[in-house]
Amino acid sequence: MEVIFSDVQVKKEELEEVLEKSGLREIVNEREMPFTKLMEDGEIKEILDGVKRIKEKSSTLVVVGMGGSSRGAKAVNEAVGKNNGNLKFIDNVDPNLINKVLNELNWEESSFVFISKSGRTLETVTALNLILKELKERKLPLGKKCTFIGDAGNLFEDLSKKFGAPFFKVPKEVGGRFSVFTPVGIFPLAFGGYRVDEFLEGAEEVVREPEEALKLAAAKFIHYKDGRKISVAMPYSSFMTEFTEWYVQLWGESLGKNGKGQTPLKAVGTSSQHAILQLFVDGPDDKFYQLFFVESYEVDPKLPEEVEILPYLSGKRISEVMEAEFLGTLHALRSRKRPIVTFKLENLSERELGRLMMFYMISVVAMGKLMGVNPYGQPAVEIGKRVAREILLKGREDGAGKVQLEGGGGVK
Ligand code: PA5
Repeated sequence: MEVIFSDVQVKKEELEEVLEKSGLREIVNEREMPFTKLMEDGEIKEILDGVKRIKEKSSTLVVVGMGGSSRGAKAVNEAVGKNNGNLKFIDNVDPNLINKVLNELNWEESSFVFISKSGRTLETVTALNLILKELKERKLPLGKKCTFIGDAGNLFEDLSKKFGAPFFKVPKEVGGRFSVFTPVGIFPLAFGGYRVDEFLEGAEEVVREPEEALKLAAAKFIHYKDGRKISVAMPYSSFMTEFTEWYVQLWGESLGKNGKGQTPLKAVGTSSQHAILQLFVDGPDDKFYQLFFVESYEVDPKLPEEVEILPYLSGKRISEVMEAEFLGTLHALRSRKRPIVTFKLENLSERELGRLMMFYMISVVAMGKLMGVNPYGQPAVEIGKRVAREILLKGREDGAGKVQLEGGGGVK
């Protein structure tokens, strides 16, 4: 992974001054960034052994978890494995989604991992209860079919004991969206057949040399102060769409506090060139751009020498068209002096994804420090969760349950 800062529109000295004065270089440690303490060999082995056991009987793993409890694995599964099909995700209480995933399953050959640090997340527990009922009705052994991951001592650990099912604990101090390098990400990815050793090694490289991640935070902060309150992530790859979702959560949930925040916006090249690029190039200068370019592909079809129309395409590789379009966008943004950082990714491998995800986790904590925001926790999310709980508990006529579709009082 190479990170190119030449279009960042900030003087080197200014960047250096922010890095120096803020003490960012001192915060990359296990106390301020607990997620930088990566799993020990013994812990990894325990997970790999657990995965091996369930793989003997199952070809599909259904991952049930919300937000940080599933997005990381989903992003890697898409980028590296192109959604290879042996991992299925339930990350919503959309009845159609749950119904589709469960209906298409071969139950005899499927296993389930329920992931929740708190063990109380409404969506996760809803799907869990439904799946347990199905397993019981089908007389399938709960202890063998289910794995639980969460904070030690939570309700999931209790369930694992009750069913005699495996339980993997997440370090308490590592928050959900920072947990992809813990069992939360490693267990499903190992089941998916991914090289988790390389994924973790990629992350470790960035922990050892975090300078550029800090530099990105410094650059984004300088632009944030100048009014660029939106930060765009635009990979040139359809298979990094889930990565942008992961980024949106990380950047949005970590920094959106006390009236502050930098709104993460996702786009995908080249598709979004036909949707939002006009706004990027010619709209308000209120955004910071992060472009991601993938240098090599597993397959790269070639067009025939004799094409039917547009002769300049003759004999071109598809990747050459992609590159030309990427450079076109870069040029267009440059022509308006938009601030850009470009990530050149060797490929979409476990190692590159590990580097990229650790890079952003370090960067967001650094950005929090610069903005004066605690990047951990998401207190405002609790407001809605509490109301949803009350509605389910007491019905819609009582207490917070009085919230109705109409009645916000906005239109006078
Ligand atoms: O980043 C976070 O902490 C959140 O997005 C959580 O991951 C999400 O709310 C799920 O929480 P839990 O793991 O407790 O089910």
